[in-house]
Amino acid sequence: MGQPWWQGAVGYEIYVRSFLDDDGDGLGDLAGVRAKLPYLADLGVDIVWLTPFYPSPQADHGYDVADYLDVDPRFGTLDVLLALTTEAHELGLRLVIDLVPNHTSDHHPWFVDSRASRDAEYRDFYVWRDPAPDGGPPNNWVSHFGGPAWTFDETTGQYYMHLFLPEQPDLNWAEPRVCAAFEDILDTWFSRGIDGVRIDVAHSLVEDPEFRDNPLLGEGIEQAEDDDPSPDPTTARLVFDRFVHVHDVDQPGVVDIYRDWNVVAAKHDALLLGEVYILDPIKLHRYVTDDALHAAFCFDTLKLAWDADEVRDTLRPYVEVSGDALAWPLSSHDDPHAATRFGGGARGARRALAYFTFLCGLPGAPFLYQGDELGLEDGHLETGVASDPIAVRNPGTIGRDAVRTPMPWEPGPGFGFTTGEPWLPFGSNRTDETTVAAQLGFPGSHLERTRELLATRRRLSALTNGSPTEWITDEGPVVVIERGEEVLVALHVGDGDGPAELVLPEGCRLAFATMAEVELIGDTLYLPEDSAAIIELEPTEDGEEPMLDAEERALMDRAAADQDLARMSGDDTGIGNDGAGGANG
Ligand code: NOJ
Repeated sequence: MGQPWWQGAVGYEIYVRSFLDDDGDGLGDLAGVRAKLPYLADLGVDIVWLTPFYPSPQADHGYDVADYLDVDPRFGTLDVLLALTTEAHELGLRLVIDLVPNHTSDHHPWFVDSRASRDAEYRDFYVWRDPAPDGGPPNNWVSHFGGPAWTFDETTGQYYMHLFLPEQPDLNWAEPRVCAAFEDILDTWFSRGIDGVRIDVAHSLVEDPEFRDNPLLGEGIEQAEDDDPSPDPTTARLVFDRFVHVHDVDQPGVVDIYRDWNVVAAKHDALLLGEVYILDPIKLHRYVTDDALHAAFCFDTLKLAWDADEVRDTLRPYVEVSGDALAWPLSSHDDPHAATRFGGGARGARRALAYFTFLCGLPGAPFLYQGDELGLEDGHLETGVASDPIAVRNPGTIGRDAVRTPMPWEPGPGFGFTTGEPWLPFGSNRTDETTVAAQLGFPGSHLERTRELLATRRRLSALTNGSPTEWITDEGPVVVIERGEEVLVALHVGDGDGPAELVLPEGCRLAFATMAEVELIGDTLYLPEDSAAIIELEPTEDGEEPMLDAEERALMDRAAADQDLARMSGDDTGIGNDGAGGANG
């Protein structure tokens, strides 16, 4: 049996609303996605993940689904989606769609029925509880978006639960008919040719059967009132973070749901990729083992500071525990673009590319978010824009709008995204120079380097075939990993440490560098700060520079020959370091 098709794949997240507007209404759509499939295939990604396009009131921009099996007319039709899927396959791309099983829209027919009476057919599809003795919510759970996780419904005199907006009622996964309905939904999409699902808040779904209060993390926070959804507008999400979520997320039983889904997916060779927001390698591992999910995102990649020890100490346990069952996001529609997170400007973009190169060196699937291939920063928006419900509920904040501004394709008033009025402004920092057109075909641009990186990754099988990962440097600003004794990936995470010089084993070849200043001279790799390189340890085919064979090299008696550098294994890696701020100091 060969390896699964998703092993070693590179993903690309499309935020459909903001990718490309084909019909001029200012909103991205599926025809826009279809038009850009060749762009994505040329870029060298393998998996295209589409954010929700389902019929939806758009209270949370599509993460409030009113029909799981259709397409919202604002985004196109089912026929367009199916044609897009076929074309993607012809281009060698796989299409993954967003499945939102934790909650529906309050407009979903199940919920409309459920709230109509206590003995409605679909009543038990949702989580209904009696008020607390004082008439308040049944417990102290809060919504991710601020405010209580419960809304009182006058018609039937009970509260319903929602871990997000009141317009996103949580489904009741203790109800077997909900489980059956989702197995049918999965089977339908996979039968239609969809290659997999990205599962929204995959660690939620199941709640404590006794609905016990969550403990508060520390003192000093009041539970939000109904009429005051966020006590502190600047920290709406922190309200959620102030509780220890022992009873509302990551409950026993949730992984069992995915074991059942795995059986459905296996029939179609489809991928189950979880948005499991658990920043703990051991807990996360439970989701990707024993025939549950095939892969899960590791969200710690979005949290790391530009610090070599943090990169090593944080990512290494994930790799050791879950290996290639992980997906590594560089950015997402919920988090800042990497270039912004790493300080913006030229340096932010350099760091983002270097960091992505490193993620491409790990086992598993690196994921770009649209615009990352340009080194794009978040759009600079006025605070009054407030389209994201987090921003709407928390006046004075931007929420996630800045990372969702439309994709700038080419110079011009609508930046090639739309001929109409974009649903969200581009941001005052978008210029002709930040467009795809300004970079496409220009060697050395962020876009062309990203394309070169992905081509290199595809060529070097040790990076995609599940080869073991060895962490070569334990300290210093350069993080070096080795894959399968064939490839090294080095990332200089310095901040004022200066360039590093790494003495490598004989006969290496520089396969990819994020900057022209990265050089391999003889056996010494010169790595400036904020750069990364991929090195072939034993090149099998000639690159641009003719390689000497091993015997010729031995005859040259180079300085490095006094070290046993032919192989790197165990603690004695054989990497020497002569430079200021080098890896082994
Ligand atoms: C995670 C999604 O990525 C986010 O955009 C959404 O608001 C929540 N889940 C709720 O569905």
